[in-house]
Amino acid sequence: TEYDLVITNGVCVTASDIAALDIGICGEKIALLAPSGSLAKASTKRLIDAEGGYVMPGGVDCHVHLQEPNMFGKGCSADTFETGTRSAIAGGTTTVVAFAPQQRTEPSLLAALDAAHGLARGNCYSDYGFHLLVGNAGEQALNEIAKLPERGVTSLKIFMTYEALQLCDCDILSVLAEARTNKVLTMIHAENGDVLTWLTDRLEKRGFVAPRYHAHSRPPLLEDEATNRAIALAELVAQTPILLVHVSDAGATRRIREAQTRGQPVFAETCPQYLFLTREEHLDGPHGFEAAKHVCSPPPRDKAAQAAIWTGLRNGTFAMLNSDHCPFNYDDNFTGKKACITEEFPAGRFRHIPNGIPGVETRLPLAFAAIDRLDRLPLTKLVEVTSTNAAKLYGLYPKKGALMPGLSDADLVVWYPNEGSAKSSATLDGLTITNSMLHHDVDYTPYEGRGVTNWPRYTMLRGKVVWDRDGEGIVGDKGYGQFIERESSTLNDIWQRVEEAGPFDEEKL
Ligand code: URP
Ligand code: ZN
Ligand code: ZN
Ligand code: ZN
Repeated sequence: TEYDLVITNGVCVTASDIAALDIGICGEKIALLAPSGSLAKASTKRLIDAEGGYVMPGGVDCHVHLQEPNMFGKGCSADTFETGTRSAIAGGTTTVVAFAPQQRTEPSLLAALDAAHGLARGNCYSDYGFHLLVGNAGEQALNEIAKLPERGVTSLKIFMTYEALQLCDCDILSVLAEARTNKVLTMIHAENGDVLTWLTDRLEKRGFVAPRYHAHSRPPLLEDEATNRAIALAELVAQTPILLVHVSDAGATRRIREAQTRGQPVFAETCPQYLFLTREEHLDGPHGFEAAKHVCSPPPRDKAAQAAIWTGLRNGTFAMLNSDHCPFNYDDNFTGKKACITEEFPAGRFRHIPNGIPGVETRLPLAFAAIDRLDRLPLTKLVEVTSTNAAKLYGLYPKKGALMPGLSDADLVVWYPNEGSAKSSATLDGLTITNSMLHHDVDYTPYEGRGVTNWPRYTMLRGKVVWDRDGEGIVGDKGYGQFIERESSTLNDIWQRVEEAGPFDEEKL
């Protein structure tokens, strides 16, 4: 066999195994896994010696916001499909699932999907898919849910908060019922929007408008309550599978764990901000407007919550660690976070700060640096929560998230060797994250100055090296990234269980 690319002498890590293996790649696919060193002399167009390094399936980040116009009526998110996916590959992520946002004023989901395709097509460095973001659950949108799977979209997101997007319980129920019928996974942003509007008004009346009060306006109880309500509504609609996104706190985590223990198909993700940032240090601590750099929803919580989120990641309550990359510039006077600074409010007004922080590029290195906190088999767990489970839950597996010869795309991330003796390159002991080394189009990172232990040495997408840290950095091409049509979820056979249960029937309640 003549290979296009061979990776020799590396240690391969999947969600289930760690083994020294060589990888032979033909075209876009993994063709062969072979004993370590056995392909060192194979006939190949390119050979990469990964001695002392780890080779993993490329990262799959299923929660990124790119180029969303008019986010919550507060301007466009900072990264385009081009800059956001460029940032992804530089951080070892080869597939992102972004959002196709339907505005409240727009009746059609399919029109929103077409618009998102128009922005992404020809502009991506990584492969990509879409979730529909349902901002208007009117009759047309509900009818169009049935058309999503044939367009390769098998998930949608709804909101229990944000004035511009919040759905009432009856709309949520209608979406859940329609999604269930069509094997579409419903992702839910669970915070009680009415309570936080009420709290925001009260804080404002007392002059508490600085960025740090963002946390006061959405305490953990709002997330706990909404999570509980979401789980109850899903249970009512004949156990419709749901996914709680960006879970930040112990209370919500407990609700999810309890539902899972009862056997309800409830899935959850958490994000780096809830593992690595805290309210004390990043919202209450900084002076003046600086805290705006950590305004996201839910906000970073206290140390006890952070510990509970780590436990949930270890014990499987959270299937995934996704970034919720949703950047706004700090210094841009038109659409950035600083846009909310006025003469009357020199420290800004938290009500007007767009919610979200960047993180698609730092997700894997931050997680890698913390692997000792993951599990007894931390490297397999790292792959599971940053790649494989997302691929399974969102219908990308085993094309993505795996190293299966003949089936999996040759999407790989090669980490720098742990030992300095390795010949391919030096170690990265002491590497510090700074915004200047990142590839997003955002003027800050919330992780400025944080140390990490490793960084992707190479990222490969469908057989092509697209990131070469010791070489020219980004070596992939804009437009090489493809839209990936997704199947229905395969994690834990969720749709098989729904089929066995039969259709939702209110008469049976
Ligand atoms: O603050 C956040 N999380 N912004 C992104 C939008 C969302 O709710 O996921
Ligand atoms: Zn209603
Ligand atoms: Zn959200
Ligand atoms: Zn988000």
